Amino acid sequence: MVQHALFINIFFGSLVYAPQVASLPGSWYPFLRKEVLNMNTYVTGTTIRQLREARAMTQAELAEQLGVSSKTVSKWETAKGLPDITLLQPLAQALGISVIELMNGEHITNRNVSANLMRGKFYVCPICGNVIHSTGSAVVSCCGVTLPPLEAEDADADHALTIENVEDEQFLTVSHPMTKDHFISFLAFVTCDRLQLVKLYPEGNAETRMQLRGRGYLYWYCNRHGLFRQKR
Ligand SMILES: [Fe+2]
Repeated sequence: MVQHALFINIFFGSLVYAPQVASLPGSWYPFLRKEVLNMNTYVTGTTIRQLREARAMTQAELAEQLGVSSKTVSKWETAKGLPDITLLQPLAQALGISVIELMNGEHITNRNVSANLMRGKFYVCPICGNVIHSTGSAVVSCCGVTLPPLEAEDADADHALTIENVEDEQFLTVSHPMTKDHFISFLAFVTCDRLQLVKLYPEGNAETRMQLRGRGYLYWYCNRHGLFRQKR
C-alpha cells in the first residue's frame, strides 16, 4: 500500500506548478518524457474491473457497497461513465487500495520491508528537478506528474566518473559540461543503511567528496541523459 512506503524526500528549489510549464525554456521540453506526461488523470474502467476481479467480487457486490446499481459499475468498467469524485474514497476502500493507487492504476506491494537502501529507487521531476529517493515501491508524483523510477545505466565516455581515494573519503569527479541546459544534477553514494547525496548546480563543478563507508553503489544524474550507476 502506498501509505506504507518509506520515503526520503529531498526538495531542491521551489515547486513549479504545471501551468508554468509553458514558461519553461524550450530546452526543457525534450526531458518531458512522453510516458511521464501520459499519466492517468482519473480512475479507468480497466483498473476498476481488474481490481474487482482480483478480489473475486461481482459487479453487484461492488455496487451494493457503494450504493449504486450494478449497471452503473458496468458502465464505469466499459468506459461509458466515470464514478463521481465523492465515490473515489469508498471505491478505493472497497477495492482494497489507496485513492492514489486507484487513480494511478497501480497497486503497490512493498517487498523491501527491511528498507535496504540499495534496493531503493531514485525519481527526478522533469519540471522542477526535485530529487526523491524511496526505500521501497511507491507511486510518486511531483508538479502533477507521476514519476517513473529511474533505470540506472553504466556510464558512457561522456559521463565517466573518476574516483580518487583520500584517506577515508572519496573524491568524485564527472567529466561533463555544467551549463544551464546540460549538467550533472546530483551525485549519491548508497549503501544498505546510508544515503549520501550531494546536489550539484549548473555553472558549478561536477565533483564532490563523500565518506567511504561500506560497499554500495555510486549514482550520478545528468539532466539530459539520465541516471548512471557504478558499484563501489
Ligand atoms: Fe549528459
